Amino acid sequence: MKEKIALLKKEVEEFQVIDNDQLEQFRLRFLSKKGLIPLLFEGFREVPPELKKETGLLLNELKQLASVRFNELKEHLTSVETGSAETDLTRPAIPFTAGSRHPISIVRSEIIDIFSRIGFTVSEGPEIEDDDHVFSKLNFAQDHPARDMQDTFYISRVTGDESDPRDVLLRTHTSSVQVRVMETQKPPIRTISPGRVFRNEAISARAHCIFHQVEGLYIAENVSFADLRQTLLYFAREFFGKDASIRLRPSFFPFTEPSAEMDVSCNLCGGKGCNVCKGTGWLEVLGCGMVDPNVLEACGIDPVKYSGFAFGMGIERAAMLKYRINDLRLYFENDIRFLDQFRTEII
Ligand code: DAH
Repeated sequence: MKEKIALLKKEVEEFQVIDNDQLEQFRLRFLSKKGLIPLLFEGFREVPPELKKETGLLLNELKQLASVRFNELKEHLTSVETGSAETDLTRPAIPFTAGSRHPISIVRSEIIDIFSRIGFTVSEGPEIEDDDHVFSKLNFAQDHPARDMQDTFYISRVTGDESDPRDVLLRTHTSSVQVRVMETQKPPIRTISPGRVFRNEAISARAHCIFHQVEGLYIAENVSFADLRQTLLYFAREFFGKDASIRLRPSFFPFTEPSAEMDVSCNLCGGKGCNVCKGTGWLEVLGCGMVDPNVLEACGIDPVKYSGFAFGMGIERAAMLKYRINDLRLYFENDIRFLDQFRTEII
């Protein structure tokens, strides 16, 4: 009998309930008329007289314990239901994981931030553009290959007339925003224009039909190539690190004269040459130049009084160089394993 009492005592103490059904089971098992404790009381008659006192005490203790435990369990259930006691109502029902910013968005914000510190504003323009803003006013010759359907997504012609040069198209570069800003604002102009651009390219690790650029434009009196170089050096040091150096290589764009391409010293090998920079020690970052007087004139700005510089860079490319991403497609796949790596880069 003593062992039975000890076993039941342990069971009563350890019993847990999560709902009223289980509470009722507790009652039935231990306390109800046909429960285990009353059963022990029935068997008490058979206990030898010399053990009656001790056993009786233990039995009463057990009964007491069971009814106290019953009340405790009951109280626990009501407090969970009413949300009082230890239930934390602010705890989310379903655990959630915070998202992270997309690397393109991080780099875009960082570029905006860097240029806004030296007085550049942000301007935007439409993604669906016309020939004037994407090509003609930027001094592209009528037969320039960039106008080719193989490079540009055309939507329609303004009129049905085949000879009508006014096309509706998806902008192939953000230089179109330069035109829109110059048409509507008076110098001094100091602005950058981030945005999406579209080109008729087959998708691969190195090319995509949709990507992002940031255009820069500075128009005022006496703006020189030295101003352009110094602005780009400032950017390179802010973006790639204070030890970055730049070099400008002569190039050609219809809308700038002279034109150049800017390289930044390879941040992986520090300029010594490695497989990222293909042994050259330099990484190609952006195109730039002095705004061609024809462009100023086409946009209603006096090219005798004013001069300016412009530059344009790919955001995907800048992010690739900064984070050593080797496949453009990763930006568009939304693979959580890729995106998760930018969790700490809050800008
Ligand atoms: N629009 C050029 C491109 O898409 C980039 C560019 C080059 C922009 C030179 C500029 C510039 O403003 O001056 O490749």
